[in-house]
Amino acid sequence: FKLTTVEEFEAATERLLETGAKVGADAWQFRVKNQTPHCKFGEEGVCCRICSMGPCRITKKAPRGICGCDVHGIVGRNYLKFTAGGSATHSDHGREICHTLYESSADGCYQVKDPEKLIRIAKEWGVETEGKDIYDLAHEVAEMGLWEYGKPFGTQRFLKRAPQSQQELWEKNELAPRAIDREVSCSLHMAHMGCSSLPEALIKQSIRAGLSDGWGGSMMGTEFSDVLFGTPKPIDTEANLGVMVEENVNIVVHGHDPSLSEMVCEYADSPEMIAYAKEMGAKGITVSGVCCTSNEVAMRRGIPMAGNFLQQENVVLTGACEAIVVDVQCIFPALGPLSKCFHTKFITTSPIAQMPDSEFIRFDAKTADEKAKLIVKTAIENFKNRKPELVHIPQLKQKATVGYSVEAIIKCLDGVANSQVDEMGTVKPLLQCVTSGVLRGAVAMVGCNNPRIRPDLAHIELMKKLIANDIVIIASGCSAQAAAKAGLMDKRAKDICGDGLKRVCELADIPPVLHMGSCVDISRMMILASELAKCAGTHVSQLPVVGCAPEWMSEKAVSIGNYVIGTGIDTFLGVDPYVSGSSEIAEILTNGTREWVEAAFTVEKDIDKLGDAMIARIEEKRAALGI
Ligand code: SF4
Ligand code: FE2
Repeated sequence: FKLTTVEEFEAATERLLETGAKVGADAWQFRVKNQTPHCKFGEEGVCCRICSMGPCRITKKAPRGICGCDVHGIVGRNYLKFTAGGSATHSDHGREICHTLYESSADGCYQVKDPEKLIRIAKEWGVETEGKDIYDLAHEVAEMGLWEYGKPFGTQRFLKRAPQSQQELWEKNELAPRAIDREVSCSLHMAHMGCSSLPEALIKQSIRAGLSDGWGGSMMGTEFSDVLFGTPKPIDTEANLGVMVEENVNIVVHGHDPSLSEMVCEYADSPEMIAYAKEMGAKGITVSGVCCTSNEVAMRRGIPMAGNFLQQENVVLTGACEAIVVDVQCIFPALGPLSKCFHTKFITTSPIAQMPDSEFIRFDAKTADEKAKLIVKTAIENFKNRKPELVHIPQLKQKATVGYSVEAIIKCLDGVANSQVDEMGTVKPLLQCVTSGVLRGAVAMVGCNNPRIRPDLAHIELMKKLIANDIVIIASGCSAQAAAKAGLMDKRAKDICGDGLKRVCELADIPPVLHMGSCVDISRMMILASELAKCAGTHVSQLPVVGCAPEWMSEKAVSIGNYVIGTGIDTFLGVDPYVSGSSEIAEILTNGTREWVEAAFTVEKDIDKLGDAMIARIEEKRAALGI
């Protein structure tokens, strides 16, 4: 067993770019060059264009905008708007899932696959479950979920899952998120011309908007996806471009919402469609994924992961992709023109993400089955249009075991429990591993890829360093896929861990890097941290647990960062969130927020130093607890 290196990833990409050159394809690698150097005002966050007296940009010579706003107000407003964009996006995804749950029925397109979880949530929300039809219950809970977006009074229902101490901090500092849409609207209102320019106020609202995502929209996205499609359990899969199969019809699903990809997987696996593919000259059908849609179907069905964010163009460049089917978020508009250079069909499906040069097959909960069938058929019928001289699938892939929901982690960790002393079925055995020092702590590795950092390198190098130091990793999103591609989700990766973590991996039969799902599933991490804190009788902020997004790029990632620190977890970033132009905003984000939520950001572009800083923080927290 050998890990795959970033150099090997890059060699595969180089080879694909050669194919691209033959057909005149563009790629992000070239566009990055064209965009470098980046706009310095943008990078520092000091450009304001929220009213038409501007745009104003702050320099030494011009320290204030025309309205008199200083650099701290401008940077702070930009940061808040960035967060609101992310919170809106995750939460709207969650809303779609609520609607899908609302549409579920015994004989419709979507069923309830985890009724126990639905009943658990219903009880948590005070709904009478006794003697109720499961679909009546699903509709009632879905509607309650939808009200979380616009209710006029009160705060998010799921906040009650946090430890009391965190809830008190939120209340005391006016950070408890109200209706989700209200927090997004309120953010845009505050950042409007002539409203807030006070740094503390802007950052506080950024945290509240973030919390409305993590403990509102994202959490509903995760929980109701589990109800509809099943709560993930450990399952074997594979990762990297080598999962595509040359002889088969290759359908790649990309985006975030599992409602589409679940249906596509269902049909692609049907005898009828497989027979049709054979009729069209293929051996079968392979569905693989990119980005979080991929994580969703990998976690629940073991569908292989073709790659993460910056590999989305690569799947088309293989020349063997019959259709790349997308839903929402993180989809390069580049896929339109790129797919035109090949036989690939670029199929958009959501009114939220419409793009030029794509075929739009509108997907909705009521007609999901027929649309999914149409998509699969379209891909199959496209197989004959392949240009064999352009086909090259890099033979790189690794085995991975994925599917570590909180429920699954608890179950696996029962394997390390001493059944005489420990309570099984709780986080207690995990906590024991941490307090005894067998595990030094945990790092939540999340987020995207970003050409500013050599893609995947930061994720992989940090994980290797941390697991060697007996720190277990929980990962999601494109970070998780980087790990899987490298082989860090192969159980055999235990051999590069410290002795303590290795022992835990053996006893619990887990890999050292646990795939917790997509980006909305970072809400799972918040629940896990909360359960650990409750079990330990500490604040979340006291646990030897930190978050890390070394290659993040999207507004969603900033929203996540805000709710992770908002939950009391120090968060380490490898990319600056456009705030370096304001000493005051930078100070609040890296220190000031501790006063409100007991956690803050650290930004460090040197990967090695970033890893050292995380280990040091974990050890500091251990020392403070006396463990
Ligand atoms: Fe300039 Fe103020 Fe308008 Fe921003 S709000 S563009 S700083 S005048
Ligand atoms: Fe994602």
